[in-house]
Amino acid sequence: MGVAITTASLGNILYETKGGIAYITFNRPKVLNALNKSVIKELKTAFETAQEDSTVRGVILTGAGDKAFAAGADISEMLQDTPLEAEEKTRLGQALTTLIENLGKPVIAAVNGYALGGGCELAMACTIRLASETAKFGQPEVKIGIMPGYGGTQRLPRLVGKGRALQLILTGDVIGAEEAHRIGLVNEIVPSGSLVVRAEAILKQINANAPQGVKFSIEAVNKGLDTSLDEGLLIEASLFGLCAATEDKKEGTTAFLAKRAPQFQGR
Ligand code: CAA
Repeated sequence: MGVAITTASLGNILYETKGGIAYITFNRPKVLNALNKSVIKELKTAFETAQEDSTVRGVILTGAGDKAFAAGADISEMLQDTPLEAEEKTRLGQALTTLIENLGKPVIAAVNGYALGGGCELAMACTIRLASETAKFGQPEVKIGIMPGYGGTQRLPRLVGKGRALQLILTGDVIGAEEAHRIGLVNEIVPSGSLVVRAEAILKQINANAPQGVKFSIEAVNKGLDTSLDEGLLIEASLFGLCAATEDKKEGTTAFLAKRAPQFQGR
């Protein structure tokens, strides 16, 4: 069953599909796209919709306005939270990052400005991160008396290494696109006006490949990073076996030998 999305149900984000891509946009530019509880719930609905829609082959996540991707959790809402509400909100945010990371389809973060706190954490859950030249990244939570809560303490060290992650988390430093690229936090730096175009080009390249091969590759990398090398290799072998059972494997290998382009069906 698909999850119904209506414009009315999404007051804080935009959801649009075009040419096999779902475009999900944080849409609170006046507060630099700060993530309140409604935004997190709406993002969950949007990503579930994209996951269940078989015509959607990939997602681009970006922010409205020219200043921010998302400047983190909504600090004014946070001020009112009881510890129980804070814990519940953190779990909602973390569940969203897990959904994005394991969507089964590539998700590209087009980071067009500040990606701080929860904004950086949502970007880190994406499959690939592109940054504009003006993008800025950081986990500044300790500066306001808290700590990262949407997976930053776990995904940042996995992406950039423990030492760099701890330095960023403990100092609260905000770094620019060049530094984020140098340490491996972002895949590419792209001129601001071309961010979405470049994300579309990458998705087009990925989507020319066999969908199951793409899906299982994401799964093998994600699951493998959370376990030992031996376990990871077992996961890879099992998923490789599943790929071998697909019609697309037959089509891909046959097309290669016949020197023609493959026509993948996602079966
Ligand atoms: N929450 C709520 N409102 C926010 C916000 C946030 N995270 N970030 C910015 N805003 C609001 C500002 O309060 C301001 O609102 P008003 O116009 O009503 O005053 C508006 O957005 C514009 O922001 P600034 O005037 O501050 O813009 P600036 O250019 O001077 O500074 C900035 C930009 C450096 C990003 C600064 O806004 C900032 O430091 N924001 C907070 C960043 C932060 O601490 N993020 C972490 C939040 S905690 C978290 O995310 C926990 C977690 O892990 C889930």
